[in-house]
Amino acid sequence: MAKIIVVTSGKGGVGKTTSSAAIGTGLALAGHKTVIVDFDIGLRNLDLIMGCERRVVYDFVNVINGEANLKQTLIKDKRVDNLFILPASQTRDKDALTKDGVERVLTELAKEFDFILCDSPAGIESGAMMALYFADEAVVVTNPEVSSVRDSDRILGMLSSKSRRAEQGLDGIKEHLLLTRYNPERVQKGEMLSVEDVKEILAIELIGVIPESQAVLNASNSGQPVIMDKDSDAGQAYLDTVQRLLGETVPFRFLTVEKKGFIKRIFGG
Ligand SMILES: Nc1ncnc2c1ncn2[C@@H]1O[C@H](COP(=O)(O)OP(=O)(O)OP(=O)(O)O)[C@@H](O)[C@H]1O
Ligand SMILES: [Mg+2]
Repeated sequence: MAKIIVVTSGKGGVGKTTSSAAIGTGLALAGHKTVIVDFDIGLRNLDLIMGCERRVVYDFVNVINGEANLKQTLIKDKRVDNLFILPASQTRDKDALTKDGVERVLTELAKEFDFILCDSPAGIESGAMMALYFADEAVVVTNPEVSSVRDSDRILGMLSSKSRRAEQGLDGIKEHLLLTRYNPERVQKGEMLSVEDVKEILAIELIGVIPESQAVLNASNSGQPVIMDKDSDAGQAYLDTVQRLLGETVPFRFLTVEKKGFIKRIFGG
């Protein structure tokens, strides 16, 4: 049975789309048939980060409106087997996603896919609510700063009260904390919250810590999810995250300031 995972945050610009692309790609690389659905109507960032923007013909809203079927609309990733993108519409109004329509599409996707990853828009308005409503699990993307943590806490409230699982009295959505843009140096200086601080405030299980990294920008510029840059710190941190999502126990990395070795101290780097 397909697992529906929403990647959400409340606050904007914290790394949801980056994380959706990376985690979706990681799940597919691990052999699971995966679709990443862009719920951010009007913005269409996911296809840019996935590097398939020129191949978008139809979109999520076309499928909901019966103007195209899923086969015509899903974009198959060229690099990774088992990986598909359902792009968002760029032009339509934000209310184009209806609960019935979204349910129909997700039900059809669930017949084909192992994982359905929903990249949520920011905020707690209808688009974000639509992205989380049908979820089984949630990856709550949070930056180590007070405003982001506060908004994640609001989203946790929504997950436990406004989701289908909540409405139907089923087991709650399984919540995972993904800390992104983590900068140990700034944490050490007291400029950012530590992993422990955030864990204590939000009190949900930590699924990953992604360091602040130039590799993320390079990846998004080249339209290749950062998880495919296996030598990069962020790529490795996302690989660890995917393994944990799949139930493995993996030690956390990139949490402390890297001690510079002799060579690096002398020559920099
Ligand atoms: N680990 C990281 N290191 C450095 N930059 C990052 C990292 N994660 C994300 N970013 C950058 O932060 C910005 C926002 O990322 P992204 O678009 O993934 O966020 P988002 O939560 O999807 O935003 P929105 O709420 O607008 O949808 C991008 O410029 C991205 O490259
Ligand atoms: Mg986004």
